[in-house]
Amino acid sequence: MSRKPIIAGNWKMNLLQSEAKELFEGIKSFVNDYTASQLPTVIIAPTFTSLCAVDSVKCNCGCGGNKISVAAQNCHWENSGAYTGEISVAMAKDAGCDYIIIGHSERRQYFSETDEMINKKAKAILAGGLIPIICCGETLEQREAGITDEHIASQIRAALSGISSEDVAKSVIAYEPIWAIGTGKTCDSVEANRVIAMIRNVVKEVAGESAADSIRILYGGSVKPSTIEEQMAQSDIDGALVGGASLKADSFNEIIANTMKVAV
Ligand code: PGA
Repeated sequence: MSRKPIIAGNWKMNLLQSEAKELFEGIKSFVNDYTASQLPTVIIAPTFTSLCAVDSVKCNCGCGGNKISVAAQNCHWENSGAYTGEISVAMAKDAGCDYIIIGHSERRQYFSETDEMINKKAKAILAGGLIPIICCGETLEQREAGITDEHIASQIRAALSGISSEDVAKSVIAYEPIWAIGTGKTCDSVEANRVIAMIRNVVKEVAGESAADSIRILYGGSVKPSTIEEQMAQSDIDGALVGGASLKADSFNEIIANTMKVAV
């Protein structure tokens, strides 16, 4: 089964609207030299305040695909109401998003997000017609204690609980070892691939073989232009969620270009 790779840029809490627009233009001028079918699925995730400074870029070859899609970095599971500081799935959609990142380790760690909340968000996103990018990952302590697989498997089982196989199939998972995020210490590609294959097995258990074959599972954690080719050459790594290296058009575009050399 061939899965279209995804290169997603998580801009985190960075860039004013003018800066977001400039970065967006830099990526746009690169992808405009290609058709959507030549490119990986390219996703950018700006802050909420910059969602309207960027836009999805439609392919002009008539395929109906996007050359750039937009993601929100978080959402609430309710449609509306007294939830100060939150945004709903419908609001993210209204601002041009096709994807929403949920369960990022920074949200779990600094904003006390639980597996149960992430499951509610995943269900709300799918019900709203968008695609969740569900993050999971272990701490260094968990890795050293030898409980990486069991921790990740339990995060994935909880996130996907009660979701139909059809919806699981179109979802995206990002495996991001916490000790590799923003540290410059990339997880060894063979090890990242092993954990991702384990995740795919968990998906198979909960949603069946066809969902496991279709779901795209990304690696995240200090991905750089120099690491992506080896990562994309692995059997189960379907792309990357990129933080730091997505904040400059040059490095993000190089990650897309290097991905096209080995996969797409
Ligand atoms: P990084 O961030 O690429 O800066 O390590 C990845 C992420 O947190 O999604």
